[in-house]
Amino acid sequence: MSSCYITTPIYYVNAEPHIGHTYTTVLADTIARYHRLTGDETFFLTGTDEHGEKIAEVAAQRGVSPQEISDQNSDAFRSTWDRLGFSYDRFIRTTDPDHVETVQRILQQVHDAGDIYFKEYDGLYCVGCERFLTERDIEDGLCKDHERAPEQRVESNYFFKMSEHFEWLAGHIEANPDFIRPERYKNEALAMLRDESGLGDLCISRPKERLEWGIELPFDANYVCYVWFDALINYLTGAGYPDGPKFSERWASAQHFVAKDILKPHAIFWPIMLRAIGLEPYRHLNVHGYWNVDARKVSKSLGNMISPLAMQEQYGFEAFRFFLLRDMVFGLDSNFSEEALVARVNSDLANNLGNLVSRTLNMTARYAGACVPACGPTDVLEDEVAAAVPVAAGKVAQHMQRCEIHRALEAIFELVDVVNRYLEQRAPWKAAKQEGTEQLVATTLYTSCEALRCIALLLAPFLPATSATILERLGLAGALDGAHILDDACAWGRSKAGTPTTKGAALFPRLDPPAREDA
Ligand code: MSP
Repeated sequence: MSSCYITTPIYYVNAEPHIGHTYTTVLADTIARYHRLTGDETFFLTGTDEHGEKIAEVAAQRGVSPQEISDQNSDAFRSTWDRLGFSYDRFIRTTDPDHVETVQRILQQVHDAGDIYFKEYDGLYCVGCERFLTERDIEDGLCKDHERAPEQRVESNYFFKMSEHFEWLAGHIEANPDFIRPERYKNEALAMLRDESGLGDLCISRPKERLEWGIELPFDANYVCYVWFDALINYLTGAGYPDGPKFSERWASAQHFVAKDILKPHAIFWPIMLRAIGLEPYRHLNVHGYWNVDARKVSKSLGNMISPLAMQEQYGFEAFRFFLLRDMVFGLDSNFSEEALVARVNSDLANNLGNLVSRTLNMTARYAGACVPACGPTDVLEDEVAAAVPVAAGKVAQHMQRCEIHRALEAIFELVDVVNRYLEQRAPWKAAKQEGTEQLVATTLYTSCEALRCIALLLAPFLPATSATILERLGLAGALDGAHILDDACAWGRSKAGTPTTKGAALFPRLDPPAREDA
């Protein structure tokens, strides 16, 4: 059995979960579910990043301790993820004792190996990014990402010898084209490495006189660890480093999911840190674009956040989840609007999928006594439907390997179209009114129930609740328990005649377009 280790970024606890955090977690959840259904031993990690100046700053503004803010907001993330049904295996907090211990152990190890030195540093620091900026990060005197002015800082600190590994890293990235993907981010990482003036060594400490909220350096009690050095190590703690029984297999299959804002720490700092620790680099860094609202990145500082719980309340989470997965092209930015969401849900879910489910099950109730009928002799039309299933499954497998979720969904919905067209051609509602057509109607309904079973299985990673409902209505509750489920999707003919089916209410009622404020 292969291992599969999937991570999201750990989110800062200075903000409530919004569409951006939700997207990365939906994406990772979908990939994790997909791997579980193919039989891989999957471990899915998410959590919160709690140390550092950003959090200390918000706590000070609100007059509470950083620990209190962390507890509150970490709970907000976890309970939101639970309400949305994400299938994470561990929710890690950087204040968890095993993580603090792992970070200190690694700091000591890297220090003992001579890879950390002490010096005075003078630079421009952005608290939003929690790092010293380079010229590339600044536009009109402001941090490009946070639109705030960085501060000039002179400080004595500990540095991690990063620059001596740039050549090795560039070689590793070149030699492994899917190490950082899609390609545009691989190229961006290589450009960062070429432009060495902007990188240098990594400052990994903060003096306690300025910041106390962090993990103390094991070799100097006057300093805490820089938040990114601490945060990246969560991926090791979460996998059970150093001696957890599954650590090695997990690490060998590690895939990180992040947005492009944190490319540099993941593409540059992290592989070099791993090399200093004596570990192999992760397997893949999967980098997606931003969700924008009115062409600006969603963020707390810009005040344009979309709450996943509000979306769940308004549209149901599966509809929101579907929109996020279907409308973002992996690697590119996407614009969020409720109009686009409603249009997508109405066309794909209410019309195509919803219609196929309701007419198949309504006709099975009406013409076959609410049981899957026995399949009679088949013809070329049925053969076409049966042949379309492995084609769709093959495309799904291929696109999922590359994280091209929108294309995987496109392939499943092409299959939905094939079955809808088949029903139009066979028109069992007309055939049923004629004499001697019982077998034809039964075969048509068998074929559509069977295709629907396959579609529901294929959809399980993307729309887990909808998939479970369709299977339940086909009398196949529990079909998703167990391994190698996706192989069942391609095994045409598994539906058994006589299995009781239920009609049920519309899966996705048509949504009204959102009221316009200027209307
Ligand atoms: N704490 C660090 C990550 C440490 S990982 C070792 C951090 N946290 S964050 O709360 O700012 O989350 C950033 C991540 O949230 C992005 O990389 C992305 O996964 C997600 N998103 C936040 N805003 C986003 C958009 N507007 N669009 C898409 N995803 C974005 O950085």
